[in-house]
Amino acid sequence: VSTVAASPPATAEVTRHRTPDGRVAVVRPARPEDRARFVAAVDGLSPQTRYQRFFSPIPRLPVRDIDRLMDLDGTRQVVLHATDEHGVAVVGVARFVFTDPPEAELAITVGDAWQHQGLGGALLDRLLVAAGDRGVVRLTAESLADNRAVAALLRSRGFHRTGPVGLTVSWVRPLVD
Ligand SMILES: CC(C)(COP(=O)(O)OP(=O)(O)OC[C@H]1O[C@@H](n2cnc3c(N)ncnc32)[C@H](O)[C@@H]1OP(=O)(O)O)[C@@H](O)C(=O)NCCC(=O)NCCS
Repeated sequence: VSTVAASPPATAEVTRHRTPDGRVAVVRPARPEDRARFVAAVDGLSPQTRYQRFFSPIPRLPVRDIDRLMDLDGTRQVVLHATDEHGVAVVGVARFVFTDPPEAELAITVGDAWQHQGLGGALLDRLLVAAGDRGVVRLTAESLADNRAVAALLRSRGFHRTGPVGLTVSWVRPLVD
């Protein structure tokens, strides 16, 4: 039985994130018309960032994966995009997927040129609010075991490691007491 509620107002919000080096990113829900921007963003990832996100060195996303990642009807997942100030390029993506409602699994990617500027934290903060609004009771994540950046990010937002350490590790954060 799912306790996931219908579309929440907070998820629709548009927020701005000012980086320490003086740029502005706009965080908002992903839109169907972002598809080409999203594909360009994935195509532009460095091999390392791509591997850390997808756990494989895929050169290009197959169309069926793009369809799945850009499925925006709100049933399967909630997706946030960060764009540059002018909305031209997608520079970050955060999502949670209702793997086992009311539990969901998150994934975050920040484009190489925007990493280490607090954008991952801003996206995760927005994602936590959206997850609460949608009735998610536990958020999980999976990362490569040697991914120190995401480990720091998740720990800073109250996630802890769970399960065995292999090539990947699992993270969890309860959203209700
Ligand atoms: C993980 C990722 C999303 C972080 O985004 P970001 O915008 O660079 O992160 P932020 O600037 O918000 O930093 C978040 C925290 O991570 C730390 N951090 C960032 N990069 C780091 C690195 N390479 N090594 C150690 N810590 C790092 C920051 O110091 C910060 O910690 P703090 O809040 O305690 O100060 C980004 O590096 C990324 O997209 N990586 C590739 C894809 C990926 O690994 N996705 C995760 C799979 S779910």
